Amino acid sequence: MKPVIAIDGTFASGKGTLAKKLAAHFGYAYLDTGKLYRAVAARALEVGADLSDGSALAKLATLITPDELESPALKSGAVGAAASKVAVHTEVRVALKNYQVQFAFAPPKGFAGAVLDGRDIGTVICPDADVKIYVDAKSEVRADRRYNELLSYGEDISLAQVVADLTERDHRDTNRAEAPLKPAQNAHLLDTTNLSIDAAFEQARHLIEIILLPK
Ligand code: DC
Repeated sequence: MKPVIAIDGTFASGKGTLAKKLAAHFGYAYLDTGKLYRAVAARALEVGADLSDGSALAKLATLITPDELESPALKSGAVGAAASKVAVHTEVRVALKNYQVQFAFAPPKGFAGAVLDGRDIGTVICPDADVKIYVDAKSEVRADRRYNELLSYGEDISLAQVVADLTERDHRDTNRAEAPLKPAQNAHLLDTTNLSIDAAFEQARHLIEIILLPK
């Protein structure tokens, strides 16, 4: 079996950047699982689907294609907020689970393992992952990072609005009944509040090497 690395964490904690860098370093395939929820949300917004209708949303989830996951439109704040609402539905989570499990256990050709990032990778999708990392940072720091990211996409938004969105998103992601965001029991915690991207990467790389290399 090829190694699987599960990276979970809060919104704008830096987990996506970290996961991508780790995947490139180790030659593993990378899946940003938030994009799956974002893709369902984007489809739902496009067709005007009711974000509280789990079974209608689950049908949209079955239509997602890998190409769609590359759309820059998925990065917007509006799609992210809708994704958090879409993600509370058990039917949607069930519809997206198989894709993620398949990716983890049978990564695309040419890759030596898989890195998945999200909210429930270490707890639900890959409970037996070889390495689990839970990434978090102080909310002010996360809000600042997200604000700058949205500005770089050309969005017209205030820092106060980003703080409000982040608070709401954290609350929904951690308090939902199904697969809430929480560290897996055997996850290694990585607080990126005072870490640069490179410093966070070095800590995670070191940890992964210690766990995987003796095998
Ligand atoms: O990581 P992100 O901001 O792209 O994720 C968007 C939303 O999708 C997030 O608020 C919660 C949901 N999500 C989830 O419930 N489970 C995952 N594994 C990934 C994302």
